[in-house]
Amino acid sequence: MKRRSFLNTTLGAVATSLYPFSNLLASPNAWKNVTTALPYLTDNFAPVTEEVTATALETRGRIPAELNGRYLRNGPNPMAPVDMAKHHWFVGDGMVHGVRLGEGKAMWYRNRWVRSEAMVKALGEDPAGRVFAGSNNTHVIGHAGRTFAIVESGAPPIELGYELDTVGVNNFFGTLTDMGFTAHPKVDPDTGDLHAMCYSWPAWGDHLKYVHVGRDGRVKKTVEVPVPGMPMVHDMSLTENYVVVYDLPVTIDGGLLQRGMRFPFGWNSDYQPRVGLLPRNGSGSDVIWCEVEPCYVFHPMNAYEDAAGKVVLDVVRYERMFLTDNHGPFGDSLATLDRWTVDPKTRKVTTERVDDRGQEFPRCSPILNSKPYRYGYSVAIEGSSFPTILKHDMQTGETSEFALGAGRHSGEPYFVPREGGEAEDDGFLMSFIYDAGRDASELLILDARDLSEPPIAQVLLPARVPFGFHGSWVPDGSDGPSV
Ligand SMILES: [Fe+2]
Repeated sequence: MKRRSFLNTTLGAVATSLYPFSNLLASPNAWKNVTTALPYLTDNFAPVTEEVTATALETRGRIPAELNGRYLRNGPNPMAPVDMAKHHWFVGDGMVHGVRLGEGKAMWYRNRWVRSEAMVKALGEDPAGRVFAGSNNTHVIGHAGRTFAIVESGAPPIELGYELDTVGVNNFFGTLTDMGFTAHPKVDPDTGDLHAMCYSWPAWGDHLKYVHVGRDGRVKKTVEVPVPGMPMVHDMSLTENYVVVYDLPVTIDGGLLQRGMRFPFGWNSDYQPRVGLLPRNGSGSDVIWCEVEPCYVFHPMNAYEDAAGKVVLDVVRYERMFLTDNHGPFGDSLATLDRWTVDPKTRKVTTERVDDRGQEFPRCSPILNSKPYRYGYSVAIEGSSFPTILKHDMQTGETSEFALGAGRHSGEPYFVPREGGEAEDDGFLMSFIYDAGRDASELLILDARDLSEPPIAQVLLPARVPFGFHGSWVPDGSDGPSV
């Protein structure tokens, strides 16, 4: 195993001018001294301090031989200690963790920071003509034969190499001319195209932008969508005929800006919550806006149109967001899994509760995105821990679960369909698991058909993967989307 530590005195000196607590870089244990006060920097939220390359990985069970590719996941991992009073979980430097599988083996584990301009300077690395932007920390996808680390609110995609080193900004081969993109593009499984609802603050401020990216990785179309403020639009949904906009009351907040908070979006009780149905071939003035009760949604599980032409949105919904907790998402209310049914004719939205336990990171089979589906997956939240993987049968309302055991926590469960599989749930659930007992993580592979079965495989990693955000399975040799 090779480790590359950045927490040495030389680099600490370089970084002193860049980070308020960077004098602490001199000690590898520096983080332990400053992360005890803020939940989003403690326990497995705390960043790791090294980039690791490991090739001899202990594996339990049997890795399916058909899995040839990389499981990748992005998340925040501040390179240097931060000003805790102003910190937010969403703004740490991005770090991508990956495990390469092939021939029934785990070939390697790597973690690499997504290089920002400040990071390259602090590390004394040679930019070598590469162009860097902000640190893209939210999602990592395969598309058009490339690997992209992506984030919302104004930064272009950053391309990574196969082994996760930063290549540089790739604004979809020069076709994303306005800088904003998103962390949550949705794939149309029929075409392999990406559809994205983007915002860019402070560059924009009175509109969102729908961006349609072809399977070849080039932007085909953009549409401006006017909004009466600057909402945080984290995700979107796609159906056969519509692009769905979640225009909800978390908006740019002058008070947070004045206080110098790193993430200046907060709850806005004066902002009318609504969802919008933008016809796929429509303009910004064609959006069918439908009011909903005050709430916030980071992530839909899936969306589709039913036989009557109504739009079904399955969402993880919070009663409030960033009202009292401006450091992360878990302090104000628990999220529930809800179904919203939108009638485009009457603009009425009916709601029902699918599962009232706290949960996040919903996913479905990527080949059924935007289509009627039966199974969705998420992870249960208790406090700020993630002890159970959930499988929802959206037809029967039943939920099955895989309890990870004491001190073990799951990230987002990602569904990989089995090649040639016929049943919707015939495939694998992959997730990074943190095991407090080892103070290290593993890649867990479950048979999605039956969560009561023991894991198919566990790849033990030599390091922690801090709690983070979103990931993908990127098959080798594929030029299609992985989102
Ligand atoms: Fe997200």
